[in-house]
Amino acid sequence: MWGGRFAAGPGALMQAINVSIDFDQRLATQDIAGSKAHSDMLAAQGIITTGNRDAIHKGLDEIAAEIAEGTFPWSAELEDIHLNIEARLKDKIGEAGGRLHTGRSRNDQVATDFRLWVREHVELFQTQLTALISALVDQADAHADMIMPGFTHLQSAQPVTFGHHMLAYAEMFARDRSRFADCHARLNESPLGAAALAGTPYPIDRDMTAKALGFDRPMANSLDAVSARDFALEALSAASICATHLSRLSEEIVIWTSAQFRFITLTDAFTTGSSIMPQKRNPDAAELVRAKVGRIMGALTALTIVMKGLPLAYSKDMQEDKEPVFDAFDALELGLAAMAGMVADMTPNKDRLAEAAGAAFSTATDLADWLVMHLNMPFRDAHHVTGTIVAMAEKQNVTLAALSLAEMQSVEPRISKEIFNVLTPFASASSRTSYGGTAPSEVRKQVARWKSDLG
Ligand code: ARG
Repeated sequence: MWGGRFAAGPGALMQAINVSIDFDQRLATQDIAGSKAHSDMLAAQGIITTGNRDAIHKGLDEIAAEIAEGTFPWSAELEDIHLNIEARLKDKIGEAGGRLHTGRSRNDQVATDFRLWVREHVELFQTQLTALISALVDQADAHADMIMPGFTHLQSAQPVTFGHHMLAYAEMFARDRSRFADCHARLNESPLGAAALAGTPYPIDRDMTAKALGFDRPMANSLDAVSARDFALEALSAASICATHLSRLSEEIVIWTSAQFRFITLTDAFTTGSSIMPQKRNPDAAELVRAKVGRIMGALTALTIVMKGLPLAYSKDMQEDKEPVFDAFDALELGLAAMAGMVADMTPNKDRLAEAAGAAFSTATDLADWLVMHLNMPFRDAHHVTGTIVAMAEKQNVTLAALSLAEMQSVEPRISKEIFNVLTPFASASSRTSYGGTAPSEVRKQVARWKSDLG
């Protein structure tokens, strides 16, 4: 009836759809840690003997070594990581191995393992984000007063400093880091001991296992403990937002390294050549980091839809939680590492940035502000006068600073030669000393704050 390769009939199909060992092997370390904490507790509570506990620990250590050496006999018939390890334990230590599963179920076991795995990655991302922020701060420190064009609508707007631009991303990644910290605080509760769904009649000590596994406390409701996957959704949400930030910075790197911009250069470490066009140096790493957000957000969508509409408590649907998270977190780990590498690797092209910063009448706002501050003109009138002067420069195909005083006075007679102090890109950027502004003096203050925060 089933035909094809499932010659063995429904049993084989059942196994094919049910098996998870190919991917949940990744939970082996967490599964062993959970089993050790659980057996310790069972012995402390007199539920198993200390002899049983010692045999279990010894067996689990051997299993961990087999997995590390690649000699563990993985079996698809045994379905998942939990049954693979438990069966191996029984092979090794016999009867005592059968006592490990007292007062627990695979439902609280998998919830615990997965929480531990996600927690480890949430911690890793915080460390990686700190490294990325630190690379950005180093670039800001080295180039606090390097002038570049600032954009709105990707049109030249006002001159800014390269350091300021780097620190904008440092702020974004610091918020990502704090989102992971928030997520960590909420996820760090132990499901272990919730058993299948209702708790257990054995006199277990859930505080003890929670503490042993580094959780802040046991989860307070056994139904929730085995059903909740919002910790993974929250981590994926934080990952998705972080990936959008990585994607934005990647996009800038792609634009900046183009022949049309030439704002920065990357070394061979982060670029590739073309097999046909010898002149090419492609920013492939930046492009790939730019794209990672697709699979990371895809994982968030996938798991949200898996969880939507699931009744309490455990349903096998929840086995579909792991692959998207593994894939998304691998992508984010690689993306964060590649971005920290690229930020450290890039060299801004000072002359090219200065040239671009002076183009497109980027100091027009400075001219208008000067009219307001020195001639007490209402800003709207100053905007109009400046527009007339910009049109004049545009017609002559020169920068604002290249117009003569007489030409400017033909539009507004009260303009004095002091106007030239604000018309260069450097003067423009340096005048923006408001808190959080782009002036080199402000950037240096922010760099100092960052350095003391980063320790
Ligand atoms: N492999 C399962 C999963 O990942 C473990 C839990 C199985 N529980 C059950 N009642 N069948 O969800």
